[in-house]
Amino acid sequence: SANQMWGGRFASGPDAIMTAINASIGFDQRLYAQDIAGSRAHAAMLAATGILTSTDAEAIGEGLLTVLSEIEAGNFAFSTALEDIHMNVESRLKDLVGPAAGRLHTARSRNDQVAVDFRLWVRDQCDAAISGLTALMKAFLAQAEAGADWVMPGFTHLQTAQPVTWGHHMLAYVEMLARDKSRFEDARRRMNECPLGAAALAGTSFPIDRHMTAKALGFDRPTANSLDSVSDRDFALEFLSASSICAMHLSRFAEELVIWSSAQFRFVKLSDKWTTGSSIMPQKKNPDAAELLRAKLGRILGATVALFTIMKGLALTYSKDMQEDKEQVFDAADTLMLALAAMTGMVGDMSANREVLAQSAASGFSTATDLADWLVRALNLPFREAHHVTGTLVALAESKACDLPDLSMTEMKSVHDGITQEVYSVLGVENSVRSRTSYGGTSPTRVAEQVARWKTILG
Ligand code: ARG
Repeated sequence: SANQMWGGRFASGPDAIMTAINASIGFDQRLYAQDIAGSRAHAAMLAATGILTSTDAEAIGEGLLTVLSEIEAGNFAFSTALEDIHMNVESRLKDLVGPAAGRLHTARSRNDQVAVDFRLWVRDQCDAAISGLTALMKAFLAQAEAGADWVMPGFTHLQTAQPVTWGHHMLAYVEMLARDKSRFEDARRRMNECPLGAAALAGTSFPIDRHMTAKALGFDRPTANSLDSVSDRDFALEFLSASSICAMHLSRFAEELVIWSSAQFRFVKLSDKWTTGSSIMPQKKNPDAAELLRAKLGRILGATVALFTIMKGLALTYSKDMQEDKEQVFDAADTLMLALAAMTGMVGDMSANREVLAQSAASGFSTATDLADWLVRALNLPFREAHHVTGTLVALAESKACDLPDLSMTEMKSVHDGITQEVYSVLGVENSVRSRTSYGGTSPTRVAEQVARWKTILG
């Protein structure tokens, strides 16, 4: 039979496969609360502007609350024949309040309706990401504070570079996550304009008050161009882009955890809560959560690329292609929130192995740069020559299978006879990190300052 919303022009109903490809109710039912909030704001505005009688508007408003409670109680029969959340809600409203329900869609289209529903949903997800990131930043900050002056190896190319402090490494993630957070805050600010009232695409001849609905739904203002209002999915793309960058950051720490928790590194011990055993190898404690967190960017970036590809080349204004936006964003948002929660738990529960970190920091000739810098300061060598002298000393130590501080004074002098006993003071890792006091450097005093700064910011 013909459709109850537009049956007038149609002699027959859709093919069953058409219904299957066209219907979005299977996923857009997640927008029910936003859809009902948008409709209630619209109905109240229609009454305030005299477009609807207050009797009809009140019946609609009450009926919508009944629909809301039916859905929340799990008593709502979603119908694929009714295509999407908008028509499912409206159809049920008609059962409940009769013909007045048919007046709700005055001065509105599903095009501005879905635009407002989806914006409200994505806006909530920005808020969820912001609070999830705040919790994760606090977990990293607590780690930084506990081990502000613990020495560990710093790496480039995953090869020993220079000693750094645990606190400094933890705070590097706080910085990344703060930028992630500001990207969600920024996206939220930009998306906070209300498309409701753009109607199908051109606006409406009814004397609506878009400022009223925008305010009622917590938007800063109505959108200024009706064509753009129903075409725009930038807000979803910005959410996905910010999510992708954030998930990339999580994947980097996840990878570090996989490496650091291995028997060969033993830098950290992951809690039993975030690891799994093996069904065959009794000794195993696998960092599954970290591995999954390393993988999640694949999924979130996949959604991002999918939505860019869906939107690319779409002529204005709305096209049904855009219905494909929701599943991507839903999945990416669910993935990100779960990833943030898992990372927060894992970081909170992990324990750094201070002794192993310190031992490892001293290996791999990690203080070679300190030695070169000392040659510059104490002997006034040009840095390039100091680099060469130090390289020769490293080669000598390597040939004797010892570390730099194990070379005797005679051995040192055989490479450069200006070297004095004082050199040994710069070869220790503790002195090395203590000396890196430049702003943003790894010295414990600098790290303590940054910990204090972040504590003020995060409360
Ligand atoms: N289910 C649709 C979507 O998600 C709602 C908008 C439909 N508008 C239309 N003109 N067919 O995009």
